[in-house]
Amino acid sequence: MKTIKKTCLITGGNSGIGKQAAIQLAQNGFHVIIGVRNIERGKLALAEIKQISAQDDIDLLQIDMSSKKSILDASLKLNNRIDKLDVLIHNAADFDIARKQPEKTVDGIESIWATNHIGPVLLTNSVMNLMKNSEQARIITIASKGLMMHPNLTVDLKDPEFETRKFSVPKAYYQSKLAQVMYTYWLSEQLKETGITVNCIRVTNVKVDTGRYPNISGFMKFLYSIKSKFSITPEDMAKTYTHLASSPDIKTTTGKYFNEMNKTVTSSPYSNKKENIDAVMNLTMKYIE
Ligand SMILES: NC(=O)c1ccc[n+]([C@@H]2O[C@H](COP(=O)([O-])OP(=O)(O)OC[C@H]3O[C@@H](n4cnc5c(N)ncnc54)[C@H](OP(=O)(O)O)[C@@H]3O)[C@@H](O)[C@H]2O)c1
Repeated sequence: MKTIKKTCLITGGNSGIGKQAAIQLAQNGFHVIIGVRNIERGKLALAEIKQISAQDDIDLLQIDMSSKKSILDASLKLNNRIDKLDVLIHNAADFDIARKQPEKTVDGIESIWATNHIGPVLLTNSVMNLMKNSEQARIITIASKGLMMHPNLTVDLKDPEFETRKFSVPKAYYQSKLAQVMYTYWLSEQLKETGITVNCIRVTNVKVDTGRYPNISGFMKFLYSIKSKFSITPEDMAKTYTHLASSPDIKTTTGKYFNEMNKTVTSSPYSNKKENIDAVMNLTMKYIE
């Protein structure tokens, strides 16, 4: 009997951890779809993923996670191409270390908040019908170990887009990743009765290709070269993505936060409090409606 392949959509699958996860998932028998915002970079990555994995069942989907229209268009295309989606990995993220001022997306939303938090929530909603068609679907969100350096961080409900407070990329980035952790807890509760699991990965220090950021200063490049000495490879980090996407051991595990050793870890007390989670998700839904 022919076994039906599982399909995984991974956003930001053209570089870093996402590309390595795509290789591993293809080697593990998944039909992998890499979501990419730039089709040329996507095609290059697709060829490389096919070559390294020695698998052919890998596709491209153009999706810009900072644009509602792009997310809705991509979801429509996906609905025409596949009947079910088994794994959705929200890997893409905006962390443009060269940026000094907040940038607005085509929808007029601060880019890091839009790309790293609002986009994933909208994408999940838009493909939920496909996930419900899977026997056991898994949604995986991505946060950062760097949040441990900010144990008292909160989502600024009045000004998530840094309109009245001083902007910095790390501040905006960690706020968006904190919101993703809280979204994970909230969504896992919402989907409790469906069998769809939702878990978050606490990505540790992973080598970043600074060639991707031609505008950063020599000093930043130097800092990144020091950081890389304490970093693991994208390939090693991707093993946790693959574990969460495919391991039968965790098929009913939901609402958890995993580190790079595939162990569950805790997030800050603020992020676990129901009233905070509800407040962040009420704010989030205002962007989605
Ligand atoms: N590296 C670390 O130390 C570290 C630490 C903690 C957490 N993380 C998290 O791990 C994940 C993967 O990071 P990485 O290290 O592999 O970084 P990366 O190599 O820079 O990958 C980021 C990916 O996101 C994509 N992306 C950015 N904006 C997008 C948009 N608007 N629409 C669609 N795709 C977009 C990029 O595409 P382009 O090629 O088009 O730019 C790229 O494919 C991210 O969620 C990141 O926040 C990484």
